Amino acid sequence: MRIAVIGSGSVGSGLARGWSAAGHSVVIGSRSPESERVTALVAEIGNGVEAATPPDSVAGADVIVLAVPWSAVEESISSLGDVSGRVIIDATNPFVRGLDLALGHTWSGGEQVAELASGARVVKALNVVDARLLDGHLLDGRQISIPIAGDDADAKQVASKLIYDLGFDVVDAGALVSSRLLEPLALLMIRLSMKKSLGAEIGFRVLRESRATFD
Ligand SMILES: NC(=O)c1ccc[n+]([C@@H]2O[C@H](COP(=O)([O-])OP(=O)(O)OC[C@H]3O[C@@H](n4cnc5c(N)ncnc54)[C@H](OP(=O)(O)O)[C@@H]3O)[C@@H](O)[C@H]2O)c1
Repeated sequence: MRIAVIGSGSVGSGLARGWSAAGHSVVIGSRSPESERVTALVAEIGNGVEAATPPDSVAGADVIVLAVPWSAVEESISSLGDVSGRVIIDATNPFVRGLDLALGHTWSGGEQVAELASGARVVKALNVVDARLLDGHLLDGRQISIPIAGDDADAKQVASKLIYDLGFDVVDAGALVSSRLLEPLALLMIRLSMKKSLGAEIGFRVLRESRATFD
C-alpha cells in the first residue's frame, strides 16, 4: 500500500519506519520536506521512504495518516485539499497543556477530524500506543492491542491490516463515536507513563480467547 503519513515527529517517523520495513510504500508529508532534519530522517529510515509536502504526499496514496499535534489538525487537513472518499487514520489526541483533553464526553477529536475532512472515511487508531513502541514492541511477551473506531467497514479493514502489519493486536471498538472513549484512554496511558513514572514500556491489551488475523 502507498501510505502518506502527515507529520515527521515521533509518531510519523515511527510509523514510516514500521510500515516501510513491512514492505509498504511510505511518504512522509512534512511542512519542510527538504529540511536537513527531514532529509536525515528519510535517509536514516531507508526502505524507500520519501518526504514531500502534505498535499504532494497524499497524491496517489491509498491511506492518509494524521500524526500532527492537535493544535495543527485543522490547518493540516485543509492543506491536503479534497479528501472526500479517502481513508484517513487519525492517530492524534486532542490534548491541551497540562496533560488534559481539549474536548470529550459528547464530542471527540476523531469526530472533529471527520467533520474537518469532509467526506473522508476516518478511522481513529494508533492514538493509545506510545510512539516509542511503534515497532510492534512486545510487552510481557504479548502484542499490544490497538483499538480502532470508525464508521466505514472497508476503511476499518484497511486500517486493521496495516496495524496488524506493524505487529499489533487489533481490536474493533465500534463506530467513530467510540473515539470519545479512546482519547481518554490515551490520556490515562500517558499519565501512567509520566506522572506515575511507569515509562514507555507500558501498553494497553484486551485479553481474550481468540483474535482476528490478516494473513
Ligand atoms: N508521542 C506519542 O507517543 C503519541 C502516541 C500516540 C498518539 N500521539 C498523537 O499523535 C500526534 C503526533 O504526536 P507526535 O508525538 O508525533 O508529535 P511531534 O513529535 O511533535 O510531531 C508532530 C509533527 O507534526 C508536524 N506538524 C504539522 N503542523 C505542525 C505544527 N503547527 N506544529 C508542530 N508540528 C506540526 C511536524 O512535522 P513537519 O514539521 O515535518 O511538518 C511535527 O514533526 C499528536 O496528536 C499526539 O497526541 C502521540
